[in-house]
Amino acid sequence: MDGFKPYITGDGSVGLYSDEFNDIYHSGYGALSEAYEKFVFPVEIKKDNLNVLDVCFGLGYNSKAFLNYYGKNKKINFDCLDINKNLFFLSPFIKTNHKLKDYFRKDKNDSKYVRLGKYKKYKIEDWVNQILIKNLYQEFGDDFLVKNFLGEKKFRPFFEPRIIKFDKFYQKRGYKTTKTQNKPVFLHNIYYQYLSKRYKYLFSNDIKFNFYIDDARKTVKTLDKEYDVIFLDAFTTSKCPQLWSLDFIKELYRLTAPEGVLLTYSNSVLVRNTMIESGYFTGKIINEDNKQIGTICSKSKSKIKYHLDDYETGLLKTRAGIPYRDENLSQTSSVIFHNRELEVENSNLISSSRYIKNKGVLK
Ligand SMILES: C[S@@+](CC[C@H](N)C(=O)[O-])C[C@H]1O[C@@H](n2cnc3c(N)ncnc32)[C@H](O)[C@@H]1O
Repeated sequence: MDGFKPYITGDGSVGLYSDEFNDIYHSGYGALSEAYEKFVFPVEIKKDNLNVLDVCFGLGYNSKAFLNYYGKNKKINFDCLDINKNLFFLSPFIKTNHKLKDYFRKDKNDSKYVRLGKYKKYKIEDWVNQILIKNLYQEFGDDFLVKNFLGEKKFRPFFEPRIIKFDKFYQKRGYKTTKTQNKPVFLHNIYYQYLSKRYKYLFSNDIKFNFYIDDARKTVKTLDKEYDVIFLDAFTTSKCPQLWSLDFIKELYRLTAPEGVLLTYSNSVLVRNTMIESGYFTGKIINEDNKQIGTICSKSKSKIKYHLDDYETGLLKTRAGIPYRDENLSQTSSVIFHNRELEVENSNLISSSRYIKNKGVLK
């Protein structure tokens, strides 16, 4: 967990802060709630066989919430991209299912119970984490065994003991036998350990996680599937411009299935204009409180439920909408910032502040 600082977010799920990026991985509102509301609920699934691309997998909240919600009786292939291998390894153990009592604490002064955060009933069930563990062993083998952080006392409150127990069992009795396909022996062990047949799904190949540990800019160039769902959950544009550049988004456009969707938490003018310039139809993600909580993009107009209005569309055509460029997908963030600054200085477009002052007139 070097360089990561775990904390409990508003819905009780664990979030991380990164020293390296000086940024949070998850909103204080709730890591799991955000995953469901921004990356899962806006998707409409009609197929039984899906390809999902998770750009910036991190702790995997988005893919895990998606699997939990849509996964039963579906075939799903998750291609998971992140530059940091340790996050893949942490993912199945992170605590998300806090009990109701964890949301309350006794107030010091009047000893009443006060609510700590917005309690939501979103869940990641154990089978999701167990499938993830199976896939991590399949991909990394004994490397995945070296998980020293699980033993560190200070991190214990952030991990789920049931999943650690399952992992220990799977490690000792299971994963080598699943590798050699000795299913009866493995099932026998599982049966007597847990007295349950629920673990049979571990032998199904319906759910597959593939892990790509590299700069996502390099990885996308090597991919050639058509994805039904793409999650783009990079750090903000001011921290990680390389994953919001026009050139990078064009790669994601290339990988999007004709009826596929790309989802992101960002509402920024720059991001939305970049999406439109890449060729996407681009709309808003609206939550149950009628708030804009993200952006949804597709090659198919019919996938966009909430379109941008004229005022919002006009705003994209101001200087604020000028995209980042990263022609060979290899520039450093400072070069990308610098080049955009030059482009903004030399642009004939009006500034967003003037547009707002003019109440939506583009001159
Ligand atoms: C906001 S966090 C993603 C949170 C994640 N979706 C989750 O559920 O925990 C951003 C992630 O981007 C990753 N990242 C940063 N730069 C990257 C790059 N160039 N390529 C791939 N991943 C990158 C970080 O390691 C971090 O996990």
